[in-house]
Amino acid sequence: MELPQMPELMGLSLLLGLLALMATAAVARGWLRAEEEICSRSAGQKANGFPLDKSLKSKKQKQQQRIRKEKPQQHNFTHRLLAAALKSHSGDISCMDFSSNGKYLATCADDRTIRIWSTKDFLQREHRSMRANVELDHATLVRFSPDCRAFIVWLASGDTLRVFKMTKREDGGYTFTATPEDFPKKHKAPVINIGIADTGKFIMTASNDTTILIWNLKGQVLSTINTNQMNNIHAAISPCSRFVASCGFTPDVKVWEVCFGKKGDFQEVVRAFELKGHSAAVHFFAFSNDSRRMASVSKDGTWKLWDTDVEYKKQQDPYLLRTGRFEEASTMPCRLALSPDAQVLALASGSSIHLYNTRRGEKEECFEQVHGECITDLSFDITGRLLASCGDRAVRLFHNTPGHRAVVEEMQGLLKRASNESTRQRLQQQLTQAQEALKSLGALKK
Ligand SMILES: *[C@@H]1O[C@H](CO)[C@@H](O)[C@H](O)[C@H]1NC(C)=O
Ligand SMILES: *[C@@H]1O[C@H](CO)[C@@H](O)[C@H](O)[C@H]1NC(C)=O
Ligand SMILES: *[C@@H]1O[C@H](CO)[C@@H](O)[C@H](O)[C@H]1NC(C)=O
Ligand SMILES: *[C@@H]1O[C@H](CO)[C@@H](O)[C@H](O)[C@H]1NC(C)=O
Repeated sequence: MELPQMPELMGLSLLLGLLALMATAAVARGWLRAEEEICSRSAGQKANGFPLDKSLKSKKQKQQQRIRKEKPQQHNFTHRLLAAALKSHSGDISCMDFSSNGKYLATCADDRTIRIWSTKDFLQREHRSMRANVELDHATLVRFSPDCRAFIVWLASGDTLRVFKMTKREDGGYTFTATPEDFPKKHKAPVINIGIADTGKFIMTASNDTTILIWNLKGQVLSTINTNQMNNIHAAISPCSRFVASCGFTPDVKVWEVCFGKKGDFQEVVRAFELKGHSAAVHFFAFSNDSRRMASVSKDGTWKLWDTDVEYKKQQDPYLLRTGRFEEASTMPCRLALSPDAQVLALASGSSIHLYNTRRGEKEECFEQVHGECITDLSFDITGRLLASCGDRAVRLFHNTPGHRAVVEEMQGLLKRASNESTRQRLQQQLTQAQEALKSLGALKK
């Protein structure tokens, strides 16, 4: 009786098997497509948290979701020097970072995503970005690793540092994968900045009490710095990776050297030098890309440019090169960015940006109400041609006309002294390039 049914049964199981295979293939294809948009970290992998923590966290997240739904429409802003607006985030952007190879801009927002933008597209109509999700949390700070194959983020609810690896896929896109372990929780106050040394030797995290931690890349604390300045407002690693600096309630900027042995082994953190000259709390500071210049802005209503190319071990102090007025700084917090060549200083207060040339200390451009909220980050790209700002759901990119004008002025000066034809030609070429850039922006005369 059973025998005749056998072929039928076999047919059925074969069919079922085929269906299952097709389903698997479909899922796999879906995955590949979805990966462009996701980072893979399952909730099960998350670092252990107490149940109490979890309920608090979800409450916080629900509140954040509600706030997000009530968000007003996108802020409108136009200006002749606006090069582009990057709009894909559905939450407010808190931090940006350009990769050291100049190819990418990373942004993080309270929409639980990090976006990686291709800088090549900035002047095109479409701005592509890849998305990495931050499971059950969001990132407040983001920094690329020096090799541009990973980035680190600070987690808002997790209060800790997470590392994401970027793996290039065959189709040219990237897969973002969080490493299994977050860094241990060590800070007792909210973290205000993080950084990775360009040498890849250490990570810095700074909280708004007086603590700066120096970590190795495995998440072990190498050193704890007490800044002794009542509170930290900003802290950063110098582009040369030698120094860590901080500012806060006291009127100085303090600079330390992070010392490594010949074999790359960590040795110690020592006091290096200070920027002394402001008469009130320092809101912010920045380095030029060769670490030989620094700029600072203070509640005393001034900004200052410093020559920090000194031998502090021989008791040399940084030289003050220039002081400029910036009244807004006396009444509200502000941030600054220094162009890579230190020729242009960008100051942001509230939702406005002011550009100064550092040679004469004159204000050249002013952009008002650039964002719907206060500006949260400000940065020149690595060429110094563009300035990026964020504060609401968009990144806005500006042409750095004062930077082009500084090149024109510098080349004209050098041309007068050029001793031979080949030098003359090279300078002339750079001069023409800068003049053409200004001409195309309708900004040649000023
Ligand atoms: C921005 O402009 C669009 C179209 O012109 C308008 O619909 C929208 O209400 C504006 N948004 C704000 C916040 O003003
Ligand atoms: C640190 O930041 C938190 C949250 O913004 C704030 O409540 C606290 O007063 C700050 N602490 C200091 C020392 O500024
Ligand atoms: C700094 O930036 C300039 C361009 O403004 C570039 O020519 C130079 O190579 C950069 N220097 C370093 C050390 O990155
Ligand atoms: C031209 O002058 C520059 C310095 O101004 C020098 O470095 C360069 O070697 C000179 N080139 C020739 C071909 O003489």
